[in-house]
Amino acid sequence: MRVDRLSLDISRCLESSGAERGVTTKMMADLKPRLDKALSAVLAASGAGMLGWANLPREDPGPYLDFAAAESGKHDCLVVIGIGGSALGTTALATALLPFYWNELDPTQRRQRPRLYVLDNVDPDETSALLERLDLKRTLVNVISKSGTTAESMAGYLIVRERLQATVGAAAVKDHLVFTTDPVDGVLRAHGAATGVRMLDLPSGVGGRFSVLSAVGLLPAALLGVDVAALLAGARDMADTISGTKSWENPACSFAGIQYLEDTVLGRRVSVMMPYSARLRDVSDWFRQLWAESLGKAVDRRGRPAHVGPLPVKALGVTDQHSQLQLYAEGPDDKVITFLGVGEFAETVRIPALGSLGSDPGDPLRYLAGHTLADLLWAEQRATAWALAQLGRPSLTLRLPRVDAFSVGALLYLFQMATAIAGELYDVNAFDQPGVELSKKATYALMGRPGYEALAEEITGRG
Ligand code: PA5
Repeated sequence: MRVDRLSLDISRCLESSGAERGVTTKMMADLKPRLDKALSAVLAASGAGMLGWANLPREDPGPYLDFAAAESGKHDCLVVIGIGGSALGTTALATALLPFYWNELDPTQRRQRPRLYVLDNVDPDETSALLERLDLKRTLVNVISKSGTTAESMAGYLIVRERLQATVGAAAVKDHLVFTTDPVDGVLRAHGAATGVRMLDLPSGVGGRFSVLSAVGLLPAALLGVDVAALLAGARDMADTISGTKSWENPACSFAGIQYLEDTVLGRRVSVMMPYSARLRDVSDWFRQLWAESLGKAVDRRGRPAHVGPLPVKALGVTDQHSQLQLYAEGPDDKVITFLGVGEFAETVRIPALGSLGSDPGDPLRYLAGHTLADLLWAEQRATAWALAQLGRPSLTLRLPRVDAFSVGALLYLFQMATAIAGELYDVNAFDQPGVELSKKATYALMGRPGYEALAEEITGRG
């Protein structure tokens, strides 16, 4: 299972490799010109318009690294307040790159870095429990919102700000706050300027779900001691690979192309991501938003009805072998599984020889003895991919040499580029999310925001 670089194996989706109802050579040949065109369009637009995120790995991380360095050692807790693209990247990076059970480690084990809490919901019980736990005198709060109008994030901010004020005093509140927001527009920018809060930029051409490699994901990462330079180097390495290869040789095109063919030609509308690494568990959650919000669209780019978008589902190997796998194996043949495999784990955990536990030679557990947990995990991943293939169920495998900052940077960048390329194939705007606007407006109306009175009457039937 050892690999030197991130690699993508699509063979279990291909008819030529024996996949039943697989992607054919003709389908791939037919899609090739469109894939090349999609890649050219994405590369040509990189760094401009809503593809500003594509150049993030080459941009100067100085502002947020300097901020993190200046705050080093001052805080016992870091609270990130944000939602969707303003929170999922931080969680994915933390799970992938911090030691497990980070918040339970003592300050020396955390090398004086803060504990991390991500407040991305407005559940009163959870919020109240978090506030009870925090020593606000030793807490830094990073409020992340591009628009500054997101009701959930702003409610969280106002609640925390009030508590801060009561605890540290009005004058010191700003020492415990940093905003990451649009450099020019937005309510939070204006509010930060008026209240003297320190601010970092979420560059204009970077939407929330494409922002993990900006200050949005990398300020928290830097504060937590993650190797940000290696993350960006991994992303740059992937950017070079993607700009240097075409169509089916190109990992982003290949991933997007197979997913597109499985969905639109073979009717497999569900895309499951199943890492065999607990560290990558929240990368699937981050990807789920990226893929869903970017590709699920009612109209194409010319305004014609489209109603497209594969359904992303997250699963975890091996846990979900005992939960979801039965459905993937024998339920409707409407899914393609992406396995994320890891070549090397940091720790070696050996299953003990049974003799040492006093068991006899006929013990039925004997076959496990002497293997490592990594052997078992790899075997289960391989066995699952093989068994699914026997049942005619396709899968792709993305292999990382190991879960480190470089590989994770490359992986996240790959998925972002694949999403942009898939947007071209589906011919949709991958960078907007009009489908969530109506419920946002309805929430404003129900919460009494001025300007939404008529909608409130419509919803409550009191008009
Ligand atoms: O990806 C997106 O654009 C969204 O998920 C946003 O990140 C989310 O809605 C939060 O928006 P904002 O950053 O404006 O608070």
